[in-house]
Amino acid sequence: MNAHLVNLVYLLASILFILGIKGLTKPKTAVRGNFLSAMGMLLAVLVTLYHSSVVNFSYIAAGVAIGTVVGSVIALRIQMTSMPEMVALLNGFGGAASLSIALAEYFARLNLDITSFSDLTAQISTDMGAFGEGVEGHVAILSIGLTVLIGALTLTGSIVAFTKLSEIMQNDYSLPGGPIGNGIMLAASLVALTILIIEPGNTSAMITLICLALVMGVFLVAPIGGADMPVVIALLNSYSGIAAALAGFILGNTVLIVAGSLVGTSGLILTNIMCIAMNRSLANVLFGKMAEGGESIDADEIYAGKVTSAQADEVAMILETASRVVIVPGYGMAMAQAQHAVRELADAMEARGTVVEYGIHPVAGRMPGHMNVLLAEAEVPYDNLVEMDRINPTFDDTDVAIIIGANDVVNPMARDEEGSPIYGMPILNVDYAKTVVVIKRSLSPGFAGLPNPLFALDNTLMVFGDGKKAVIDMTTALTQA
Ligand code: TAP
Repeated sequence: MNAHLVNLVYLLASILFILGIKGLTKPKTAVRGNFLSAMGMLLAVLVTLYHSSVVNFSYIAAGVAIGTVVGSVIALRIQMTSMPEMVALLNGFGGAASLSIALAEYFARLNLDITSFSDLTAQISTDMGAFGEGVEGHVAILSIGLTVLIGALTLTGSIVAFTKLSEIMQNDYSLPGGPIGNGIMLAASLVALTILIIEPGNTSAMITLICLALVMGVFLVAPIGGADMPVVIALLNSYSGIAAALAGFILGNTVLIVAGSLVGTSGLILTNIMCIAMNRSLANVLFGKMAEGGESIDADEIYAGKVTSAQADEVAMILETASRVVIVPGYGMAMAQAQHAVRELADAMEARGTVVEYGIHPVAGRMPGHMNVLLAEAEVPYDNLVEMDRINPTFDDTDVAIIIGANDVVNPMARDEEGSPIYGMPILNVDYAKTVVVIKRSLSPGFAGLPNPLFALDNTLMVFGDGKKAVIDMTTALTQA
């Protein structure tokens, strides 16, 4: 096939990827976006197979068959709540694929026939001939080395993220010396990489680089708390994209460069969005702890004698006369699996003529889009899910804000108290509503470990209990009214 035609098809595939990502930014167009991206990938794969000098199709067919079966079984079995684990694993596979490409290309260019470990560690050659002359050769070996470094690190880092999310690894482990230990390993990896650039045939340097990168992946992720894993996964997703783009440079494949760059940048953008929404720097997520300094805030002082609790039927009486209600879900709704009950409550209110909307904070819950996914599962119309920036100006005109299992994302301390550890984190201004109803089991803090002055406000009613049961009780009381 003509090289220009191949590049034209690659360009078409790249456009489909970009349109696909654009579609994925809105729930309404997400399915179409997914389809467009998948078509782009199919096109890219078919053209590559047709164009490239494929030696043996049977290996490829076997790989496709195994991948299809394993992928379908996992996708069909996975629970919605376990999606972050699955994404972590998929990132790891991406890293492993790039690592394999880089190593295959490295050994192929050295014309190395590996039959024993000693073949691997032998000093093969110091000349650049196998990698191309001059700058081209240096770029080729640099691309291979960087792909190995980032691919291997992504592989083990993602496996650790998976074990943390699935609670197989429950403790946090760090290298002696913490970040300094990681820094030393990174410096050693760069030394190995430099040796490779000067002496591409030095397979000992290559093996050292692989081992260091694999270990570094483990110790970059192992010290980070399980609750911060969503940010880490977005970052690893970005790494897997960068590794793929570098693999594209090795193979001279433009569509791989474009697709890898898209994954790399979108992962970075998502990481940044999450950090901004939590008002934390990436360095704080990777090397620090959440909300240090919160221990000094005395919860008793905030709550003592000021918390008003209410029963579900009392809340139902207020809802009877409300013309506008905003429901704010949080991590507790996911824990209570209350999304269907919440939808039924909204249906009951709407049947009485109340306008009901959902206020969605970008980091409510524990993964990006957590609340959107749960509410979509309960078939809440997409149009009723309103993002923070759009819902905030409406709280002044809201009769009742119902907070179900949310805490940090509605903590006014983040807005009003400069000394507070979460000061500056954007929140949903639910306290501006006429009445605030908070459903949770106790006065326990949320993820940030801080007390919440919202619970002690004059216009707040606390409904203590499991989220699902409390909402069902409210619906029953409202429909019987
Ligand atoms: P949180 O602040 O973590 O609060 C959740 C609340 O749910 C808890 O206070 C808990 O109180 C309540 N709860 C737990 N189980 C419940 C049940 N069965 N029924 C009713 N309530 C229940 O949640 P949030 O407001 O959604 O904030 C999310 C936090 O996670 C933020 O600090 C955010 O920065 C962080 N975070 C988010 C992400 C992403 S991407 N979403 C990633 C990393 C970190 P009780 O124990 O009293 O019931």
